[in-house]
Amino acid sequence: MSESALRISDLTKDFGGLRAVDSISFQVSEGELVGLIGPNGCGKTTTFNCISGMLQPTSGKIEVLGQDATEMRPDQIQRLGLTRTFQHTWLWREMTVIENLLVPPRDQFKPNPIFALLKPGSRKSEAQRIQDAYEVLDLLEIPHMAHNLTSELSGGQSKLVDIGRALMSVPRFLLLDEPVAGVAGPLAERIFQNLRRLTSDRNIGMLVIEHNMDFILRRDVDRIIVMNEGKVLMEGTPNEIRQNRDVIEAYLGSSGEIQNE
Ligand SMILES: Nc1ncnc2c1ncn2[C@@H]1O[C@H](COP(=O)(O)OP(=O)(O)OP(=O)(O)O)[C@@H](O)[C@H]1O
Ligand SMILES: [Mg+2]
Repeated sequence: MSESALRISDLTKDFGGLRAVDSISFQVSEGELVGLIGPNGCGKTTTFNCISGMLQPTSGKIEVLGQDATEMRPDQIQRLGLTRTFQHTWLWREMTVIENLLVPPRDQFKPNPIFALLKPGSRKSEAQRIQDAYEVLDLLEIPHMAHNLTSELSGGQSKLVDIGRALMSVPRFLLLDEPVAGVAGPLAERIFQNLRRLTSDRNIGMLVIEHNMDFILRRDVDRIIVMNEGKVLMEGTPNEIRQNRDVIEAYLGSSGEIQNE
């Protein structure tokens, strides 16, 4: 863990009269796995949309891997090494798992097969890319699914393939929007173990949105950032968050998902 890979300073995003993100500041270091939680509509995805360049912030500053990315386009931010996934997984259902991984990296927008296939994407040889894809599948423990159609996968398996697609761009920083939503408990835990391994093995920084506070408190994450009504309510280690009754009660008030320990 060393340099700040992502630094957000006083980020605000308004939609007309609605302040969806309200002057939030935080940072994530290289190799860190940080959870971002909070109730529905508190601004988590909007924060990701600003960081990845899909939305222009109303004010504030975003630094990605040491560069000022506040006014960059999504493709420029991706070239810095930041990749994201979306809350709703999107895969090419008529294609196999490995084929989905081999489509050149998207530029943070929803994937469009025509543009994606026209784009050179990578200077690597096809053989090298296929090898990379198998390495990603190994890492995610799904090499046996390489030739399954993605339409045959469970929701959890689809989430893994989506993370695999993000990894194919060899990111230095990953934003994952609810990577285990709707995924059964044991698989969700394994996905988090794999993410943890990735942060350590590849020194990737990760910011991961999760809906269930009880679930994230039990995972091996470095820190948790709690958002509420567009603001950062608190950030700390899982232990610190667990012990902060105010945060827990604020969260309880809006979602009721947490069990106090
Ligand atoms: N493009 C948009 N235009 C107008 N309002 C928006 C837009 N995107 C988000 N909002 C509003 O901004 C607020 C924050 O939404 P956001 O999607 O960031 O929440 P979230 O924390 O990701 O919620 P969830 O847990 O349901 O995914 C909500 O009130 C939402 O309706
Ligand atoms: Mg969201």
